[in-house]
Amino acid sequence: MSSANNVESAVSTPNDRNPSLTTIRPRRLRRTPALRRMVRENHLTVDDLIYPMFVMEGEGQKVEIASMPGCYRFSLDLLLTEIAECWNLGICAIALFPVISETKKDDTGTESYNPEGLVQQTVKAIKQNIPEIVVITDVALDPFTSHGHDGLVDENGKILNDPTVEVLVKMAVSQAAAGADMVAPSDMMDGRIGAIRKALDAAGYIDTAILAYSAKYASAYYGPFRDALDSAPKFGDKKTYQMDAANAREALKEVALDIAEGADIVMVKPALAYLDIICQVREATNLPVAAYNVSGEYAMIKAAAQLGWIDEKRIILETLTSIKRAGADLILTYFAKEVALMLK
Ligand code: PBG
Repeated sequence: MSSANNVESAVSTPNDRNPSLTTIRPRRLRRTPALRRMVRENHLTVDDLIYPMFVMEGEGQKVEIASMPGCYRFSLDLLLTEIAECWNLGICAIALFPVISETKKDDTGTESYNPEGLVQQTVKAIKQNIPEIVVITDVALDPFTSHGHDGLVDENGKILNDPTVEVLVKMAVSQAAAGADMVAPSDMMDGRIGAIRKALDAAGYIDTAILAYSAKYASAYYGPFRDALDSAPKFGDKKTYQMDAANAREALKEVALDIAEGADIVMVKPALAYLDIICQVREATNLPVAAYNVSGEYAMIKAAAQLGWIDEKRIILETLTSIKRAGADLILTYFAKEVALMLK
């Protein structure tokens, strides 16, 4: 029975077993904290959280990102300390993003599959230090290309699909070789999940999972992240590969394709302006659904909190709980460490 029918029968047909409207008092179950705990439908736990972290070259570096107060680019040595702290707080998984120096960027992002590249070295070091933590690596070219796009570009500025997928495949395999538990293609090229799955299997990485950024929208909410990585596109925008914010059915099409191609987890990104999409994707699949509470969503809360205009802790918990209620099993969020501390 749909919930609409439940509501209707409860209010329109009073009888002995179905008390009249005036005696139905939903507030009874909200009266005390213990009662509210008993009937609470969704619970945010530290197990739900994936912590996106930024790694940079060098040593002894911890540089705060201006538009993301409380988030840092860490050099590997300090990143390892930070990850150990997160693991001790109960965080199970991190998503790794590299800050690549301009001198290592080129038009085709060759640094992305360097076996001794920043990401590959970082994954190896994390796996040596804290082998149990789930390490998720990003598969997209934007941190590595001089033009800042997620794919290869032709002389007219067109983003090339199939040649890009060939590079993404090399990148994913090199990350798996370094020890990544999960690779996460965030590029939105067509057919990349299938190509990556095939290549991982052929190389013997049958246990490396794929977290697919399936419904990733061309969003203004990514602004602060592009500051963090210095990866804003030098020309044009990402609208020929990332999705139009006005579309919902198309998200289901993308999700269905990624599942057919072998995704283990599907993701919706951003989260807060796309709760309806999370809800529909939840209903469309039995795979775990992830949502990315992106940099702009983080920055808005931090900015308002710094101005003293909102109650930051309560807003964070309400926001993340809403993303769960919409249907996400997992949330990538820059609030992960703060929330882990709050939930302790
Ligand atoms: C790029 C990528 C982006 C984010 C994650 N991977 C930005 C983009 O698509 O331009 C954004 C994350 C955030 O805003 O927090 N492949």
